[in-house]
Amino acid sequence: MKQYDVVIIGAGAAGLMCAISAGSRGQSVLVVEHARKVGRKILMSGGGRCNFTNMYTEPSNFLSQNPHFCKSALSQYTQWDFIDMVARHQIPYHEKTLGQLFCDNSSKDIVQCLLTECYQYDVEIQTQCQASEIEQKGSHFALKTNGKPVECGALVIATGGLSIPSMGPHGFGYQLAEQFGLEVLPTSAALVPFVMSTRWQKQFVELAGSSLDITAQSGDGLFREAMLFTHKGLSGPAILQVSSYWQPGQSVTLDLAPTTELASWFLLQKQEQPKTRLKTLLGQYFSRRMVPIIAQHWLKAEDKLDTVMAEIPNKVLEELGHRLNYLELYPETTEGYKTAEVTLGGLNTDVLSSKTMMVKSIPGLFFIGEVVDVTGHLGGYNFQWAWSSGWVAGQNT
Ligand code: FDA
Repeated sequence: MKQYDVVIIGAGAAGLMCAISAGSRGQSVLVVEHARKVGRKILMSGGGRCNFTNMYTEPSNFLSQNPHFCKSALSQYTQWDFIDMVARHQIPYHEKTLGQLFCDNSSKDIVQCLLTECYQYDVEIQTQCQASEIEQKGSHFALKTNGKPVECGALVIATGGLSIPSMGPHGFGYQLAEQFGLEVLPTSAALVPFVMSTRWQKQFVELAGSSLDITAQSGDGLFREAMLFTHKGLSGPAILQVSSYWQPGQSVTLDLAPTTELASWFLLQKQEQPKTRLKTLLGQYFSRRMVPIIAQHWLKAEDKLDTVMAEIPNKVLEELGHRLNYLELYPETTEGYKTAEVTLGGLNTDVLSSKTMMVKSIPGLFFIGEVVDVTGHLGGYNFQWAWSSGWVAGQNT
């Protein structure tokens, strides 16, 4: 029977980082991956350029039933630690926006960097390998990898979330948690586009592909970023962000002109440019293609587009401005796990030590990365959680 200090299930971001961390301490490490390739989500991330971290990572960028849980891991292995590793491997990168760091060339650079580190510490990686029959035997864990018995002192579950079902089967980590009697909180798709009603889709089909700088709010989430019209509804960073805070049936409030209180701006323009048409003023905020469609379907004011400002009553202008700044929409649903970047919910953090990522009641059993109920905002935060939680576990296996 083969014996290892550590067996890690899942060769994604968290699992590979955990392997490096444990390997660097001289431990013998086996990583078991059921797919043919390691790090598939890293490869597909950031449009192929992997937004590998965010310079401004803070605990407030994460959602969890216990918002304090992520603090310890994030402070033990920070974004700067990962950036150091990227720099050590001479991977060219750049800040795209809002502290988001992307590879200049390809996500492959990040996977290669992780593999190089793993091999430096003699980490064994078995792909196309199924882990089964996992059980605790005294102070050890026994399992089978592709039917062969293996024993380890520490077992790390790094099986990720439920997004992109075509990469499945998913859910192993949650099943295992339940097998060990650990609570799994309800899961849902997050960082995901909204699907709007068919009527809405018909009205806005012509805008598919257009984007707008907006503020989107739902529940406690408020984000100022771009919104993209799609054939099914709405997407783009602002929408993906707010989707993590949205519950079915709830509304989303959009400010389509976040730099300006339009009600008072319209009144001012009426005084200063009384002969200007409403559509010309709207053109300062929306593209020529958007103005008539927004006016017709959202403002119900298409008949006023060619009217000069002097002829539009103040009350109407105030109302139009207000509607553009506080547009309330009711998404029908989201696109679900098929296109979601992450899974909200997962293993209840109450069962884990935040300092080590070990299950408090089962010494030697660890859960890391997305399988745990910690979900980052869009912008490199989810990988940072994978690096931080993976590193911390590897220091404590
Ligand atoms: P991850 O899913 O990476 O890895 C889990 C691994 O476990 C997989 O390799 C899987 O095959 C394996 N596995 C599962 N069950 C198994 C079993 N039973 N036996 C063996 N192996 C098993 N985040 C970010 O910060 N920046 C970004 O740019 C992006 N972009 C992005 C794009 C897209 C399209 C998606 C879907 C997601 C992102 N993300 C992202 C999110 C990010 O990819 C995600 O949060 C991390 O990959 C999570 O890392 P984990 O290691 O926890 O899971």
